[in-house]
Amino acid sequence: MSQHYSIAIDGPSGAGKSTIAKAIARDMHYLYLDTGAMYRAFGLFAIKNGVDFSGEWSNKRNEKSLIALLNDFDLDVRYVDGVQRVFVGGEDYTDFIRTNEVSKAASAVAVVSAVRLKMVELQRKIAAGANVVMDGRDIGTYVLPNAAVKVFVTASPLARAKRRYKELLEKGDDSHTFEQVYSDMIERDKNDSSRAFAPLSRADDAALLDTTDIGLEESIAAVQNIVLTKLGLK
Ligand code: DC
Repeated sequence: MSQHYSIAIDGPSGAGKSTIAKAIARDMHYLYLDTGAMYRAFGLFAIKNGVDFSGEWSNKRNEKSLIALLNDFDLDVRYVDGVQRVFVGGEDYTDFIRTNEVSKAASAVAVVSAVRLKMVELQRKIAAGANVVMDGRDIGTYVLPNAAVKVFVTASPLARAKRRYKELLEKGDDSHTFEQVYSDMIERDKNDSSRAFAPLSRADDAALLDTTDIGLEESIAAVQNIVLTKLGLK
């Protein structure tokens, strides 16, 4: 079996991971896997099946129903014209998973170990079959601990909330105030970092990139540099 290389890019939301990861994947001719889209797909599936995520972050009361739903959750990650799409039971969810409501649901379902194990199984299967750039929260620490390159991309909560707010507005979603987006982001960070199993954290051997004061071009160039150096191509 030929050996495949993996590049793990982790960090909180709004740090720029996905744009950076996509650019690196394109440069290197690697597959790009957005693992957040998988948790988002399950979050939306749970919403469609009546699970209520509107209350407290503590989602204990949902754990049983989420585990029950997992059996019916038929997730497929496909690439259409080189772009990742997520299908659930044959239905394309891709265009419906970027709302604030689904962000919250994704973070809540991601606390449940059984949910994570199902996602991780598929993530590892994909990485075993191709060179990949994978972005998420636990790729370097848990999903692919032997990844050839690990980068932890972060930025201040304020900078990240500003980017998220701008993205929502650009998509035509003006249903949230900046304050709401900011406080949701803080809560989601807390939820993602404090869960017991595979929380958001920087792997000991991950390079750190803080994008608070730098633009995307510069961030991409910095990660390109890390990748080429690590792979001995520079
Ligand atoms: O990267 P994102 O914002 O699309 O991720 C949505 C949520 O999914 C995030 O709040 C936490 C969860 N997630 C995770 O727990 N582990 C991953 N590898 C990716 C995402």
